Amino acid sequence: MEARYPSESRTILTDLVLPGETNPLNNLFGGELLARMDRAAGIAAGRHSRRIVVTASVNHVAFSKAIPLGSVVTVEAKVSRAFKTSMEVVIDVWIEDRQSGDKTKANEAIYTFVAVNESGSPVSIPPIKPETELEQQRYDAALRRKQLSLVLAGKMKPDEATELKALFI
Ligand SMILES: CC(C)(COP(=O)(O)OP(=O)(O)OC[C@H]1O[C@@H](n2cnc3c(N)ncnc32)[C@H](O)[C@@H]1OP(=O)(O)O)[C@@H](O)C(=O)NCCC(=O)NCCS
Repeated sequence: MEARYPSESRTILTDLVLPGETNPLNNLFGGELLARMDRAAGIAAGRHSRRIVVTASVNHVAFSKAIPLGSVVTVEAKVSRAFKTSMEVVIDVWIEDRQSGDKTKANEAIYTFVAVNESGSPVSIPPIKPETELEQQRYDAALRRKQLSLVLAGKMKPDEATELKALFI
């Protein structure tokens, strides 16, 4: 299978924060942001693999900044690394200032998707070729994040997580 570039999977969802989507502090409800990120990341994973994809794991989410009611929120997702059947997708969330139009980073997250066939069984996907320095950094770090996720899910023995262990040696 021919390799694809991370930019080919780039997916951008821009939407408002409406009253039904907020918590009692009038900020975006965390579950709503998780859903928006899942949707954008799923489209990105589908664009890379051109397959049906399912969310296998949410590896990291940082709600570093509250997102107030009425904000214009942009969720940007891109596949950072493709393995055999699974893909890591990095998601950046930005808020747009209404007057200046400036964008501030509000949150980030990392999800894992698996490409599946019509029966839900995992299928092989094309490799990925990072182009920019940031894409290369994210690609390089993705294997240890995959190993950490598998260890935490009880699907890999800590002893087998060689890339992860190398961080501590
Ligand atoms: C995700 C799913 C397809 C994996 O199926 P499986 O039988 O466990 O398949 P495998 O063990 O062969 O794993 C497939 C790939 O996923 C990866 N994977 C599985 N669980 C993972 C986890 N927790 N973290 C990171 N990667 C994971 C495996 O490493 C493997 O990757 P690779 O082929 O690229 O090396 C299956 O668990 C599933 O269908 N889950 C439900 C998905 C869903 O409905 N999501 C929506 C949530 S409501």
